[in-house]
Amino acid sequence: MAPAALTAALLGGGLLLAAWRWLRAAARPGAGAGASMRGKTVIITGANSGLGRAAATELLRMQARVIMGCRDRARAERAAREIRAELGEREAAEGGGELVVRELDLASLRSVRAFCHRVLQEEPRLDVLINNAGIFQCPYMKTEDGFEMQFGVNHLGHFLLTNLLLGLLKNSAPSRIVVVSSKLYKYGEINFEDLNSEISYNKSFCYSRSKLANILFARELARRLEGTGVTVNSLHPGIVRTNLGRHVNIPLLAKPLFNLVSWAFFKTPLEGAQTSIYLASSPDVEGVSGKYFGDCKEEELLPKAMDDLVARKLWDISEVMVGLLK
Ligand SMILES: NC(=O)c1ccc[n+]([C@@H]2O[C@H](COP(=O)([O-])OP(=O)(O)OC[C@H]3O[C@@H](n4cnc5c(N)ncnc54)[C@H](OP(=O)(O)O)[C@@H]3O)[C@@H](O)[C@H]2O)c1
Ligand SMILES: *[C@@H]1O[C@H](CO)[C@@H](O)[C@H](O)[C@H]1NC(C)=O
Repeated sequence: MAPAALTAALLGGGLLLAAWRWLRAAARPGAGAGASMRGKTVIITGANSGLGRAAATELLRMQARVIMGCRDRARAERAAREIRAELGEREAAEGGGELVVRELDLASLRSVRAFCHRVLQEEPRLDVLINNAGIFQCPYMKTEDGFEMQFGVNHLGHFLLTNLLLGLLKNSAPSRIVVVSSKLYKYGEINFEDLNSEISYNKSFCYSRSKLANILFARELARRLEGTGVTVNSLHPGIVRTNLGRHVNIPLLAKPLFNLVSWAFFKTPLEGAQTSIYLASSPDVEGVSGKYFGDCKEEELLPKAMDDLVARKLWDISEVMVGLLK
């Protein structure tokens, strides 16, 4: 191709891409459109960044009392200030919603217990719990209690958190639990013989394992909660441009290309958070429990994510690991 034609093609392609990207952003997604969360209390873990932050913003817009469970107080306070500014003083003041920051480090069972203790003391009700925080493909690390970090934060920390808040959720029924998983669960396996990856560590496998554990946990919990008015569903958000990839090393020279591709093709946090917001607030899913969603629709799971024996065994072992059962 002649240089002039190539330049024209590149330029034209770039303009088209930009226009398409702009149109997509302009079409404000609205899973929660119209629904009011006034008078409802929502806890979102990892609400200072990415999907959690987008969900917090939208649920606050819908007038909920939103409790941000975050490990770093300074980062969380800054996010809360920015969210309030984004909504504007007017919308925030007349809305009746509230944004509250509470410390919660899911890599510490002590911190999870302290967080729940305070919630149980201060909150008369809890309508929605969104288990959203997550860590992705970090180098081998252990939590305060000696668990492999991804399994510890993504699964075990949330396992204890949810169990300690169940009584309040039941007393507030109808109430909902939303579990943010990932399609990458497909590459995971619950290898009971090495849950802390002391024999071998593969960071991709461990992320997938933790996200499979999220789905199996939601499934077993839904079974246990039948008839209580508390529902629990899991979801995958799609591929979203957030801080999740912080532990992934992209070569310096490939960075601009990665940024371009992610800007053009990844979802924005607001787009990615739609299914979380939908499961937290939509009347469409009143009473629906034990299901898996993507793009606000129920989706099929692989058999390994519907294995009730593995789900039960994982539950029993998790109970022992977090010290709920001696
Ligand atoms: N982005 C995607 O493409 C994608 C795809 C599938 C699934 N997901 C899932 O979506 C969820 C949200 O991730 P994101 O994409 O929004 O990523 P993100 O921007 O990195 O947000 C993750 C949040 O989790 C918090 N977190 C990490 N470790 C924690 C700990 N020990 N205790 C408490 N909070 C902790 C982070 O806190 P700090 O800011 O303090 O680190 C942050 O607020 C995760 O569960 C992830 O697995 C994301
Ligand atoms: C690590 O795990 C991933 C996903 O389970 C797998 O595709 C990959 O082959 C594994 N890598 C090694 C070195 O075993």
